Amino acid sequence: MNDQLRVTQLRCEYLTNPLGLGIQAPRLSWVLESSRRGERQTAYQIIAASSPEKLAGDEADVWDSGKVASAETCHVRYAGPTLASRQRVWWKVRVWDGEGEPSAWSEPAWWEMGLLARQEWVGRWIGGPLKGGPRTSCPAPFLRKAFHLDQPVRSARLYVTALGLYEVEINGRRVGRDIFTPGWTDYKKRVQYQVYDVADLLTAGENALGAILGDGWYCGNVAAFGRQLYGDRPKLLAQLEITLADGRTLTIATDDSWKVAYGPILEADLIMGESYDARLEFPGWSTAGFDDGAWWPVQVFPDPGIEISPMRGQPVRRQEELKPIAEPKQFRGWVSSKWVFDMGQNMVGWVRIKVRGPAGATVILRFGEMLNPDGTLYTANLRTARATDYYTLRGDGEEVWEPRFTFHGFRYVELSGLPGEVTADAVTGVVVHSDAPLSGAFECSDPLVNQLQHNIQWGQKGNYLEVPTDCPQRDERLGWTGDAQAFIRTGIFNRDVAAFFTKWQRDLADAQSPEGAFPMVAPSVLGPDGGPAWADAGIICPWTVYQCYGDTALLAEHYDSLARFIAYLEKNSKDYIRSYEDYPGFPGFGDWLALDGSGLTDGGTRKDLIGTAFFAYSARLMSRIAAALGKTADAEKYAQLFENVRAAFQKRFVTPAGLVAGATQTSYVLALHFDLLPAGLRSVAVDQIVRDIQKRGGHLSTGFVGASYLPFVLSEGGRLDVAYQLLFQKTWPSWLYAVTQGATTIWERWDGWTHDKGFQDVGMNSFNHYAYGAIGEWLYRVVAGLDLDPDRPGYAHIVIRPHPGGGLTHARAVYDSIRGRIVSGWRIADGVLTLEATVPANTTATVYMPAAAPDQVTEEGGMAGVTLVRAEQGRVVYEVGAGTYIFRAAWNG
Ligand code: BGC
Repeated sequence: MNDQLRVTQLRCEYLTNPLGLGIQAPRLSWVLESSRRGERQTAYQIIAASSPEKLAGDEADVWDSGKVASAETCHVRYAGPTLASRQRVWWKVRVWDGEGEPSAWSEPAWWEMGLLARQEWVGRWIGGPLKGGPRTSCPAPFLRKAFHLDQPVRSARLYVTALGLYEVEINGRRVGRDIFTPGWTDYKKRVQYQVYDVADLLTAGENALGAILGDGWYCGNVAAFGRQLYGDRPKLLAQLEITLADGRTLTIATDDSWKVAYGPILEADLIMGESYDARLEFPGWSTAGFDDGAWWPVQVFPDPGIEISPMRGQPVRRQEELKPIAEPKQFRGWVSSKWVFDMGQNMVGWVRIKVRGPAGATVILRFGEMLNPDGTLYTANLRTARATDYYTLRGDGEEVWEPRFTFHGFRYVELSGLPGEVTADAVTGVVVHSDAPLSGAFECSDPLVNQLQHNIQWGQKGNYLEVPTDCPQRDERLGWTGDAQAFIRTGIFNRDVAAFFTKWQRDLADAQSPEGAFPMVAPSVLGPDGGPAWADAGIICPWTVYQCYGDTALLAEHYDSLARFIAYLEKNSKDYIRSYEDYPGFPGFGDWLALDGSGLTDGGTRKDLIGTAFFAYSARLMSRIAAALGKTADAEKYAQLFENVRAAFQKRFVTPAGLVAGATQTSYVLALHFDLLPAGLRSVAVDQIVRDIQKRGGHLSTGFVGASYLPFVLSEGGRLDVAYQLLFQKTWPSWLYAVTQGATTIWERWDGWTHDKGFQDVGMNSFNHYAYGAIGEWLYRVVAGLDLDPDRPGYAHIVIRPHPGGGLTHARAVYDSIRGRIVSGWRIADGVLTLEATVPANTTATVYMPAAAPDQVTEEGGMAGVTLVRAEQGRVVYEVGAGTYIFRAAWNG
């Protein structure tokens, strides 16, 4: 028995103990932990049982994988008998190490199936009478149903969804912690449902089930498209399935016996805000004793005939709270004062207020990301987003309130409408986002770069909300595909977003046009073809998930959809040129917001060049996707397509001397990064980029498309010095410019605010847009040197390859991969470079130690388990197994 070796973090379809799974052969993963160098797994055994007791007694009455000779710890498919709806399976794992010694069994884990067949939904869609219209928002219906249980409850599950948003209470207590459920999908095609274990909320005797419905994306404002995009009012579908102590079962489902009323929530809109009149509350409305005699019978609606799918992603949840960093600033007004609070951080969520005042007084809360020069709230960039909450007081002492069905993107809060003094105590910021666990950290010796990493993390928090959005504050907040693909690799470093992107890939597929185009935004509410670098998210995102998590099932599930996209590109290009000059379709957004004029005007990087470059890139990724799935013939077909597009690219855009059409930084960046140049001309392209950067005084000119690749082509092209020069540039355009201006998130534009011009065009000036935060990937992969091996995805084999430079004295990345924690950190002190590398159990790594020769390198563990591979320009290359290694060598860089 190897008691150093522990089997931990059991997950099923990326989730810990998921409730309501819809996958027949779910995939199981675990992480090995061990303090022994070189620890590995040579075999595993999974047993699955119908109860925790049986599992504890090793009684595998559901499934026993037997001892399987395999090193795999990820995505091992359950292969037991067919799973039934509602079935809960308990499971545990043990493994055998390199010497054939077994580990102890892991702690138990479980998953539970949801409702697998549509006809298992026995309830009807219910809601209130129609209020409001396309232009008028409406109050939130409260729905309730009282019922009697003649016995204590053994178990109970609530299966629930809504068109709109729902929040459920049982006997006065909220069900679950999820926010904005059931989440956003294309409601014309699909709605997700959630499942909750509610046994603890029920009691023998009288009970009540209540739900409040919000407009959400279903009938509230979506971007600037107005209300009622999918339907005219929110609707609920739910069933509460109860097993009583004696084994009898009963189901309380939504039907015409429910009652409805409109109460204190006068309106609730994700973009506009929420209005609440506390005088209209129904105390105890979701408890059995409540008298609903004055409530109306609900309306029952026909089945919309859409798919009701189990939730695949991670729900939005409250994550943390922020207090104002100072007392509010008072602005005296004619009727009452306005108070402006600084939360110290551009955040996404809402505020909870704690106030006192006369009955009927209305507190007005407005939100902004910046302040005007006079210290008042800057809201011009919110466009038509009202982003205002109203709370009307009961007047009975201290009142605490927060909204339910709205969110705002803000750093500053303006409170008005209250007589008397207001203090910092009145406001607490509630931060919400998709509940993806933190998985990475990057830190270095430069405080501004650390602030940049902080800003990237916060940009991700605020914009990974249900779908990967562009921004959280103005009337937009859409699942912009271009932004998502640019940032995904960074996003994966920071948080475990595999489930989040698994869900979003389905949104992309739902949004795919019959011709095969991927959209501008998913869920789709805009043009069906996103154009180059946007539509290509359909390929780039699942490919990146595969690279980082080793997930072939996602590729397989969507393979046909991806193939249709490539066919669409072939059909809509001319001689392999995509977005060719007279192309009648959408040619793309260009290098959006680049400073050389592209995107918004016709200058800058040519759209046909961007189009063709991304066509080549997508074709090559498709070839690799086919290869990963063992589809050899397809892999060759797409590889040939890549060659054809590359040849067309060279013929049309590259001169024999290596100059690229348009000569913008992004033109060269794409040609290099997508491998579109003849090998001999690559250095010419790097030189051209460097020339252009220096001509601009050490500045970049790239937009959304080129920016994230720029540092890579420089560091890979032998100009790490220039990449660092760009990283440390403090005047705009640069990554650190906003940081020097006190930014706490990533700005949409390089020049969102400048000393000479003030605020940029209010029509498009978000201060929380993660796209330019895509440099985070370079910080992790290149600066700290924590990278994967594309041929052995999911960090089965790791690459540790730090790039000291730029005057940094240390940098360190930590990443909790699907195979466990990886660390790559380096430090320079007293002429010695120390490299720290942690390689999780059952993985291996190639370590590139910056040193002149092998005999100059020492390792704290006496090189145990370290194999010298070779020495190459300034690096000594080792192969290592699991463990933590501390290498040292003289440093005179
Ligand atoms: C969004 C972007 C998006 C762009 C398309 C903007 O309005 O905020 O982030 O990618 O439109 O070019």
